[in-house]
Amino acid sequence: MAGGGFVPQVGARNYQGGVTALVVITCVVAAMGGLIFGYDIGVSGGVTGMPEFLRKFFPATYAKTKDTSENEYCKYDNHLLTMFTSSLYLAGLVASFFASGVTRAFGRKISMLFGGLVFLLGAILNGAAMNLAMLIIGRLLLGVGVGFANQSVPVYLSEMAPAKIRGALNIGFQMAITIGILVAQLVNYGTAKIQGGWGWRLSLALAAVPAIMLIIGSIFLPDTPNSILERGHTEKARRMLQKVRGTDNVDEEFQDLMDATKAAKKVEHPWRNILQPRYRPQLIMCTLIPFFQQITGINVIMFYAPVLFMTLGFGQNASLMSAVITGTVNVVATLVSMYSVDRFGRRALFLEGGMQMIVCQIAIGIMIGLKFGVSGIGTLSSFEANLILFLICAYVAAFAWSWGPLGWLIPSEICPLEIRSAGQAVNVSVNMLFTFIIAQGFLSMLCYMKFGLFFFFGGFVIIMTIFIFFFLPETRNVPIEEMNRVWKAHWFWGKYIPDDAVIGATATATATADLKY
Ligand code: BGC
Repeated sequence: MAGGGFVPQVGARNYQGGVTALVVITCVVAAMGGLIFGYDIGVSGGVTGMPEFLRKFFPATYAKTKDTSENEYCKYDNHLLTMFTSSLYLAGLVASFFASGVTRAFGRKISMLFGGLVFLLGAILNGAAMNLAMLIIGRLLLGVGVGFANQSVPVYLSEMAPAKIRGALNIGFQMAITIGILVAQLVNYGTAKIQGGWGWRLSLALAAVPAIMLIIGSIFLPDTPNSILERGHTEKARRMLQKVRGTDNVDEEFQDLMDATKAAKKVEHPWRNILQPRYRPQLIMCTLIPFFQQITGINVIMFYAPVLFMTLGFGQNASLMSAVITGTVNVVATLVSMYSVDRFGRRALFLEGGMQMIVCQIAIGIMIGLKFGVSGIGTLSSFEANLILFLICAYVAAFAWSWGPLGWLIPSEICPLEIRSAGQAVNVSVNMLFTFIIAQGFLSMLCYMKFGLFFFFGGFVIIMTIFIFFFLPETRNVPIEEMNRVWKAHWFWGKYIPDDAVIGATATATATADLKY
């Protein structure tokens, strides 16, 4: 999953060797993994808004969109339609359980290759879909591809990259996701104009492009030194590390790698470990943070922005354009996060972002409530429509510099080696599960809760912002091996951390710890 396998930059040791051509190519491949995920997030909403697509696969919904007596809030409420979006995340959830075993046993390359191939198949099936079954099976295959790619690509990247740039790369992966979303929205904007109504095919089939690049990349790129070592080939691993770092002087890093591999092998029961009281803060954070990230309601915008804008009475073109605008804001605001996360810290971004989201959600709820009431009948003047679009952009920006990247960064940097695989698995699965629930539930929720839906998500953002204020300690510039010190000093979590845990952790495990995925 996004950023799932990264070791943060803080606390990394200064090994020899820099950014080699191999590392750069690796980043490009990793970007493909992020793009694939983002493209899928962004593509479905625009396609769902295309009349020809609806008429072919969801004729009942198509008829409803034409029926002026139908409540605006409920026009798109159809479980099969939401299944088109959500099935991908369910498949991704199931696949990520298998992916971590495959990634560990057969190497990162095989997982990436498999992910790319399944994904390609899904894209072809979707582009050529003649009936609903082909469409949904295609989405399920895409989901399996996403499950594998999200598991293996971040791990691959974190193991190839020099330790000192891993933190920035973590958010770089999120950046690739947001670019993928934007590209999908731009493609939809273009294909919706294609005469003959087959533009949706092109939108869905174009997902094949990043998939092919991922396949090619994973065929030609070498496996990581960590993975080679994990499978018992010590000398080969050392040679690979020298090649990746561009220097023969890799003794210190290689020793750390060996130590970390040994330590990781000793971790027989990561699941039992994480249940011990001393890991309670990590367990709770790895569960609550992905849940909170999804319950901000962000994917309502990411998945359904065009549908939402059409519900508000925007025309199809304006709706797709508005989605492009929110997509652009998402990318730019992620850059803001990259710049500020190690300068202002995680808490500042969480708290500012949270408050900004709350204000926007309440304002949007009030405006829609006043204009559309519960009947869903009403219109917006162009000023009002622009104001809503502005509020949605401000909300997306706030998410993109807070919960978006931090939702992945925090779980990856708070877990010590002995529970890292379990912590990441919890994080990824909770995220996928709630992505699925929101994707599947949103259009019904909109139909039943109407404008109150915005207050519903806003209420959760209030709760999570208070939670961050009281329960999340600042982890900026804290080396992983000293993370326990932070928990120990915390007013609430301190009691769970035994005294020996503060001195006990070793520095060596830090830099190369991602071995147990
Ligand atoms: C979330 C996705 C979301 C994306 C939006 C990610 O961090 O996990 O669910 O669609 O951000 O940019």
